[in-house]
Amino acid sequence: MKKIVISTGGGDAPGLNAVIYAVVHACYRRGWEVYGSRSGYAGLLDSDELQRLTLADVDGIYAIGGTILGSTNKGDPFATPVENLAGEVQVVDVSDKIIRNFQRMGFDAHIAIGGDGSLAIAQRFFEKGMPVIGVPKTIDNDLEATDRTFGFDTAVSTATEALDKLHSTAKSHDRVMVVEVMGRDSGWIALYSGISGGADAIFLPEIPFDIECICNKISDNELHGKDYAIVVVAEGARSSDGEVMNKGRGELGREEVILGGIGEWVAQQIRERTGKDTRSLVLGHLQRGGSPTTFDRLLALRFGAAAVRLIEEGVQGHMVALSAGHMVSVPLADAIKSRKKVDLNSDKVLAAREIGICLGD
Ligand code: F6P
Repeated sequence: MKKIVISTGGGDAPGLNAVIYAVVHACYRRGWEVYGSRSGYAGLLDSDELQRLTLADVDGIYAIGGTILGSTNKGDPFATPVENLAGEVQVVDVSDKIIRNFQRMGFDAHIAIGGDGSLAIAQRFFEKGMPVIGVPKTIDNDLEATDRTFGFDTAVSTATEALDKLHSTAKSHDRVMVVEVMGRDSGWIALYSGISGGADAIFLPEIPFDIECICNKISDNELHGKDYAIVVVAEGARSSDGEVMNKGRGELGREEVILGGIGEWVAQQIRERTGKDTRSLVLGHLQRGGSPTTFDRLLALRFGAAAVRLIEEGVQGHMVALSAGHMVSVPLADAIKSRKKVDLNSDKVLAAREIGICLGD
């Protein structure tokens, strides 16, 4: 009999509930108990935020986006900013308290579902003695140690569907439509959706772009009787002489800046340089919402089941990962070392170039 606690941290991604579903079912089969910690680690600080998860609680949730446990991307237990009554911000470390509660509540293992930030926190808890198994999540697909994270396929499908819809309106008005997509400093969502959605140009964080490239492409389109264009810009892209654009940090305790603004900047440049009617839109959190695709569901269910198998085998401090179609486990310490970037020599980048998509260089 084991007692497991599961948490979801960082930005949500379609498939989180599918992991929870698989963990609860796989534990039930073994006669183990599962508890969910709300909003990341809140359940290990306050028992009101801890929920016993039964088969009834997870009925049908594999098909639903978001997370039944809630999530946060501003909660680092090792450095939690707290505002006192005088309005001063103090940074406190509550990790010891979490470890004590984990032991006092009799947990045997923690399944931490998260992106690189949450998994880095999970690794620090592992180093403090908590038996942890990580599950890789992020729509950005930027974790090096796994071929795929769940959430990415759904985000790409949403972005591709949006591009499909924009074609008809762009064409009707002879317009350029610039679409800003998520992905932080990796261009996976932009590349996959841009190729699949018939973009004329895709600007990735991995290739600083020359704005003249898309202006030339628009002129070239016109020579061939195409008077509209679709441009996909990753939120982390930048021009060859510019900076990555952001909107500051937003909330107290937030680790990363909020990226955004480059799509509108590109649209303005195109408007000024070509005189074309140009509009921009930001797909934003639409890409994080909705029901997970079949691919993401299956991947998330496999990750959840594999995480429970690892606990049964006595493995600790590892992350489940997808490698060449198989479930494997990698040390968490390796998984969080670096972010996965688009390989500029990959066949997808070559295919984009072959079919005439301008990549900004
Ligand atoms: O990491 C996932 C992600 O959706 C990024 O693509 C994006 O930059 C960021 O999270 C947005 O975070 P928030 O939900 O805090 O606005």
